[in-house]
Amino acid sequence: MTSARIVVDPAFRVGPVRRRTFGSFVEHLGRCVYTGIHEPEHPTAVEGGWRGDVLELVRELGVSHVRYPGGNFVSGYKWEDGVGPADQRPTRLDLAWHSTEPNTVGVDEFMQWCRLAEVEPMMAVNLGTRGVAEALDLLEYCNIPGGTTLSDERRENGAEEPHQIKLWCLGNEMDGPWQTGHKTAEEYGRIAAETARAMRMINPDLDLVACGSSNRAMPTFGQWEYTVLDEAWDQVDMISAHVYYYPKDEADLQHFLLSSVDMDRFIEQICSTADAVAAARKSTKVIGISFDEWNVWYQRRAESKVPEGDDWPVAPVLLEDHYSVADAVVVGNLLISLLRRTDRVFSANQAQLVNVIAPIMAEAGGPAWKQTIFHPFALTSKYATGEVLQVALESPTVEFRPHEGIVSEVPVIDSVATYDAESGATTLFIVNRSVSDAVSVECVVREGVSELVEALTYHHDDPSWQASADDQSVVPTANESAALSGGRLSIDLPPISWTMVRLQG
Ligand code: AHR
Repeated sequence: MTSARIVVDPAFRVGPVRRRTFGSFVEHLGRCVYTGIHEPEHPTAVEGGWRGDVLELVRELGVSHVRYPGGNFVSGYKWEDGVGPADQRPTRLDLAWHSTEPNTVGVDEFMQWCRLAEVEPMMAVNLGTRGVAEALDLLEYCNIPGGTTLSDERRENGAEEPHQIKLWCLGNEMDGPWQTGHKTAEEYGRIAAETARAMRMINPDLDLVACGSSNRAMPTFGQWEYTVLDEAWDQVDMISAHVYYYPKDEADLQHFLLSSVDMDRFIEQICSTADAVAAARKSTKVIGISFDEWNVWYQRRAESKVPEGDDWPVAPVLLEDHYSVADAVVVGNLLISLLRRTDRVFSANQAQLVNVIAPIMAEAGGPAWKQTIFHPFALTSKYATGEVLQVALESPTVEFRPHEGIVSEVPVIDSVATYDAESGATTLFIVNRSVSDAVSVECVVREGVSELVEALTYHHDDPSWQASADDQSVVPTANESAALSGGRLSIDLPPISWTMVRLQG
């Protein structure tokens, strides 16, 4: 067994744990909405047709806010189609996912679901096929108490009180040629700035997110962010980031386990670009990152392919990835990266919530169940409280080859801590990213830390193990090696594992 050392000190403060780190995403895509969150005939359905079993799991997952209605879907969406009497709503083609959209669920239904799920809404406006006027109409419909045609229409539709939506995305992945109505950085920067400026005339205090690049590999990454932020600098609060990781092949497991090294670099580069705009403008404004799509997604799988030709199904099976224990370790590590940059990551959304690349699966007419990736998310969301602490780390290293010909050594152990001065709780999140070696970790904590409340490790000897509707037996379990003595914690971490240690005092 190799060894590592971690020093945790409340003086290494990065910033507050932001509840909005623990967001999720519901898109009109595949079975995320229909038979995911909404299934009126389901035995657990509650008023409104929402699946009660899924609602319970969403609350247990500890989701803070939910992005809606897309994703690629929003770039062709007419929000007006989804309001008013359900039997009079139009059925439309959804070009993003080559599907048919029945519009049974729209903005008022989604808001009702948010209340039941106890989550904040994050609404996206369509800046692909539409523009400033339609975004303003949606904002007026949602947020004005009454006395205008649109706000009164909402009241007639059963939503007496305004929805008071604070967090808004100005379009989705507008740099992507796959996006309906995609744009150049200059075109998008202008429309984002004008939409934001007009939206603030209705609600000055909105939290507004401009689209960053669809991913870090886009040829315009960096330049896109610079141009968009330069154009919309005074109007927006955040720039978005999206990333999905997956092993290229079976031999790629070690590299896949180091995915968060890439995420760290990605965050750094967006911050540098935003700060370069600030410098050029002599501005003290700090732009945050809205990491509003992140996850593991096996993009090359056949079921990820959208229908073709004359086939335009309603809620087809799409992107229904089944996750392994190794995937869960990567997800836990990505959360460590997001927390570590709480100074700049103002908001984040795991994509997505149910059925579609999701921690929760819901069989139509059948059970809802937890995927492996559910566990690190739920525990981090529940126990990361107070302040985020950067840890000092000495760890064995492993080779990281991000691109052909580039090799660097990165630590196999990664970790972040939180400290809650009010409750006295210190929580450590640690991953062992080695495919082969257990690591014995010694952690120096404060003298006053007197109690080891629990140490849970998520691991399986077969890292490819996946949960299913019938078997969710691999869960985080007590790590019996953990011991605390004289302000020092020692713990053994098996290879490919995620661990949470809760200390008190
Ligand atoms: O989350 C799935 C899709 O991935 C989203 O619709 C899109 O924004 C991204 O490319």
